Amino acid sequence: MWRPPERVRHDARPGIWPSAAEASASRLFSAVDVGPLKLRQRTWVPAMVPWRASADGAVTPEVLDWYECFARGRPGAIVVEATGIRDVPSGPLLRVGHDRFGPGLRQLVERVRRASGGETRLFIQLIDFLAIRRRPLATRFFGQFLRISPRHRAAFGDPAAPEAEVRSWLASLTPEDAAQVLDARERESLDFGERERVTDTHLEHIRELPVRLPPLFAAAARRARAAGFDGVELHFAHAYTMASFLSRSNTRVDGYGGNLENRLRLPLEVYESVRREVGGDFTVGCRFLADECVEQGSDPRDAAHFAVRFAHAGMDFLSLSRGGKFDDARQPKVGEAAYPYTGRSGYECMPSYFSDRQGPFGRNLNSTALIRAAVRASGANTPVVAAGGIHNFAQAEAVLASGAADIVAFARQALADPDWFRKVAGGHGSQVRLCLYTNYCEALDQRHRQVTCELWDRESLDEPGITRSADGKRRLTPPRWEP
Ligand SMILES: Cc1cc2nc3c(=O)[nH]c(=O)nc-3n(C[C@H](O)[C@H](O)[C@H](O)COP(=O)(O)O)c2cc1C
Ligand code: SF4
Repeated sequence: MWRPPERVRHDARPGIWPSAAEASASRLFSAVDVGPLKLRQRTWVPAMVPWRASADGAVTPEVLDWYECFARGRPGAIVVEATGIRDVPSGPLLRVGHDRFGPGLRQLVERVRRASGGETRLFIQLIDFLAIRRRPLATRFFGQFLRISPRHRAAFGDPAAPEAEVRSWLASLTPEDAAQVLDARERESLDFGERERVTDTHLEHIRELPVRLPPLFAAAARRARAAGFDGVELHFAHAYTMASFLSRSNTRVDGYGGNLENRLRLPLEVYESVRREVGGDFTVGCRFLADECVEQGSDPRDAAHFAVRFAHAGMDFLSLSRGGKFDDARQPKVGEAAYPYTGRSGYECMPSYFSDRQGPFGRNLNSTALIRAAVRASGANTPVVAAGGIHNFAQAEAVLASGAADIVAFARQALADPDWFRKVAGGHGSQVRLCLYTNYCEALDQRHRQVTCELWDRESLDEPGITRSADGKRRLTPPRWEP
């Protein structure tokens, strides 16, 4: 992962933990309305993919155990990991693109209800993403993947040359000479692996996204509702399809790209289609970027505009993330796919303990505050969720007191200690396992290995009944905590 060159070390601090009485009088542990729902407290576990679904995207016992351990901590809400809305193979990523996923998802809802004593609200994050290929061997790229065009034939010097001849000529070039013949996109496909973009409107399935996506999101939301979820979070963040429509890099000329209004069109159409399908009494919100954190990317002013429009369209919450783009991702090894959390924007999304002067804690708060202020100034009361490096009570309380957000999300801190919420609410804050922000978990995520936390995954490995990772070396859920 990219790290700021300054490499200033920042350690998470416990701060002063509240007594049970102080916690119960706090903002953090007070209730908040999220559309038609009430959260019992303003705490939120945002989506985290743990790579535990079956190879065809179904809920497994390991998925159930993972969410049970968060539910036992009884946060205000949990958002289930990014879940694919299409019925297409996508590895062990959870899916909701067909009715056959319903029974597994229903079990997940029931497990969370039971484990949280009915106190935690459960949302599911709905995602669409475009195709990305692994970085190819140069021989395969020139021999098979590259689409030979008149430009390549002209460079070869014979406009009528047979394709095979052009391919073997290209494969024989030095990388420098080949780079002269290829255009920017072809060079990227060779160096990083081919990646589709929402601007590839010469491809029918990309051109048709504005027609295809609204019903796909709506059907996924209908299934989520039928499975018993309390709401859905539309994934409009990071490197995926909907974020790419919102991005300043979206130059589509069919009314779905270019200026702010056109970039917003599909996200709003997706929302409206979902709302029509599930009705007004089901929570629908979205997660999007306060800042893309890439050159010429959307900034917090763009995000404030989006937020106001989402709020007035009727969204029930606005959850803000940051960065996580392909644009600045590190070059993958041959045979691996580019990963959107390896560049500077990836660092901004999940900042780690070696940082710049500003540090990894609350890096998204200024932008979040600006966006929330714009929403409030527009007359909308939609709750805003803040995330990024929040780990102690005082910090979370300050986020709410300052008006930066209405709800505080804890991702890695909840992974380090899913009982954070129950411990702090009950006056047992001194027993919290504080996240180290080393991104051990994120490295597992990057390799699509079952995500665990270094603070507990080797503890009591001989405990009866625990499930271990595929390599047998790590436990998949933390030891249980009881007050
Ligand atoms: C293992 C892992 C998986 C993640 N998966 C998702 C995801 O599916 N969807 C999403 O919007 N964010 C995802 N994130 C980002 C987190 O939700 C969160 O925004 C980020 O980690 C910053 O918050 P934190 O500092 O509290 O960890 C993931 C983060 C981690 C560590
Ligand atoms: S592995 Fe655990 S301690 Fe390390 S960053 Fe992830 S959650 Fe925090």
